[in-house]
Amino acid sequence: MNSKSIPWQAGPLPPTLGGTARAAATPLARIDRVPATAYIATMALRDILILPDKRLRQVSEPVKKIDAGIRKLIEDMFETMYEAPGIGLAAIQVGTPKRIITMDLAKKEEPENPQVFINPEILWISEEKAIYEEGCLSIPEYYSDVERPAQVKVKYLDREGEPREIEANGLLATCLQHEIDHLNGVLFIDHLSKLKRNRVLKKFTKAAKRAAE
Ligand code: NI
Repeated sequence: MNSKSIPWQAGPLPPTLGGTARAAATPLARIDRVPATAYIATMALRDILILPDKRLRQVSEPVKKIDAGIRKLIEDMFETMYEAPGIGLAAIQVGTPKRIITMDLAKKEEPENPQVFINPEILWISEEKAIYEEGCLSIPEYYSDVERPAQVKVKYLDREGEPREIEANGLLATCLQHEIDHLNGVLFIDHLSKLKRNRVLKKFTKAAKRAAE
């Protein structure tokens, strides 16, 4: 998501957002762990794919092993996201179809709060809905209200490969859903009316053609 897209007056996030670490009871726990010292990170900016790039419609593959390549990808995603600037990024947005999300919802005056969600799965959604104005680094400078479930429960692996579960609401709930959509080739404009979506698609298709000339 784009940093400019979210009305911050939504208020402080509730204490439940810290998430609850669970025992390694799922098959996901078999993922190999690599110590953080196993490589030296040299972060690099990666290009962000822009609508209508077809790769944004790919369904991303689960991460099987958190190796040096995945760790490097995560570092690069953070650098790219902070530089944009954005508050959330899915690996496919930098052209890598892996089920990885980076996120930082800290406000400007707060210290950085980098969060990684690997192989995230939505376990539960609330019936209650919430509306946020969303944006996307792959659809620059376009914002629109999107209605989504207000609360979600998500399981995922942290960057050490540890299985975790989180119950989210507010901005985090919306952000998680927006980014998990990316892993399934879905963009936030898919939640808008056909008329609105086609208007955006047309605009970005024209711009891409112009840029290619
Ligand atoms: Ni996005």
